[in-house]
Amino acid sequence: MAKESEPRKPGKSGKQAGAAPESAQPQEKPPRQVTFAHPSEEEFAKILDFYRIEWQYEPRSFPLPPEDGGALEMFTPDFYLPELDEYIELTTLRQSLVTAKNRKVRRLRQLYPDVKVRLLYKKDYHRILAKYGYGPLGQAKVEGVHHVLFSESQIQKRVRELGREISKEYAGKQLVLVGVLKGVVCFMSDLMRNITLPLQVEFMAVSYYRHVAGAVRIAKDLDRSITGAHVIMVEDIVDTGMTLNYILNYLEGHKPASLSVCTLLDKRSRRLVDVPLKYIGFEIPDEFVVGYGLDYGEEYRNLPFIGVLKPETPFDFEKKAKSPTG
Ligand code: IMP
Ligand code: MG
Repeated sequence: MAKESEPRKPGKSGKQAGAAPESAQPQEKPPRQVTFAHPSEEEFAKILDFYRIEWQYEPRSFPLPPEDGGALEMFTPDFYLPELDEYIELTTLRQSLVTAKNRKVRRLRQLYPDVKVRLLYKKDYHRILAKYGYGPLGQAKVEGVHHVLFSESQIQKRVRELGREISKEYAGKQLVLVGVLKGVVCFMSDLMRNITLPLQVEFMAVSYYRHVAGAVRIAKDLDRSITGAHVIMVEDIVDTGMTLNYILNYLEGHKPASLSVCTLLDKRSRRLVDVPLKYIGFEIPDEFVVGYGLDYGEEYRNLPFIGVLKPETPFDFEKKAKSPTG
């Protein structure tokens, strides 16, 4: 814990982690130089970094004028989380300190009613993570994730940008979004809500022949005709491009007015078939990713972020990873 008796200069903060990259590329953060006052703070910072949650260490102090004529106190919360606009004060298990901190937090809330502050016990880290949708760590199956590639807020920011672009370019046109189940569910549901045009949504499903690489068959077809419509194929990830190539050929046969592709992830280095991608969320390296709809053996789809699996996670890409249902 930081000493709270002396004011700290505003701006003495760690470099921000987890800020959405400007480009569509994952970026490495410069190493930060933060000296933590307590090991539990460092541990908490590591958890935040893992989830790419942006944080600042002790960014400011709050003067707490005394209620009863005593000395002016300063209170410097340990962390500030900009995405939640919330200050976090970590507590130790020493009861004497907890009581003093409780008093300060109460006073701070009184004096600064607009400031959100939370007192966090070590065992309660997961509470703050739950706000981001992870829940208690064991339940969301995050233990197989080696690192988070894109946090929930990075994804949401990028999806909003894509929605804005599409809304601009397809204004006045009869728009149909076609998604391939199941991997696209998260992306589709977020993307369609960020498009401010009338549109229709169609889903298809494909299945893969296990012993013939790249062989695809349509397991669920379109419900309605797309002839004459402006169609955007919405994809979770384009890997070799074989699936997309097959489906694009199939859709072309239905004579849409136009046909383009919007994919959240582009694993370009693995491409075998050249498919035209009009909108790309993020280009990613050749790693197996899960979350935000993407699965490994039908698991991990519900993670709100996109992560790379641990290398020791046993996997046989042909057999398991490319699930029969996308
Ligand atoms: P493609 O035909 O090789 O482009 O494969 C596309 C499909 O493979 C995607 O729609 C996914 O279902 C699956 N896939 C490819 N790479 C990944 C990954 O990294 N994680 C999860 N699924 C993947
Ligand atoms: Mg898929």
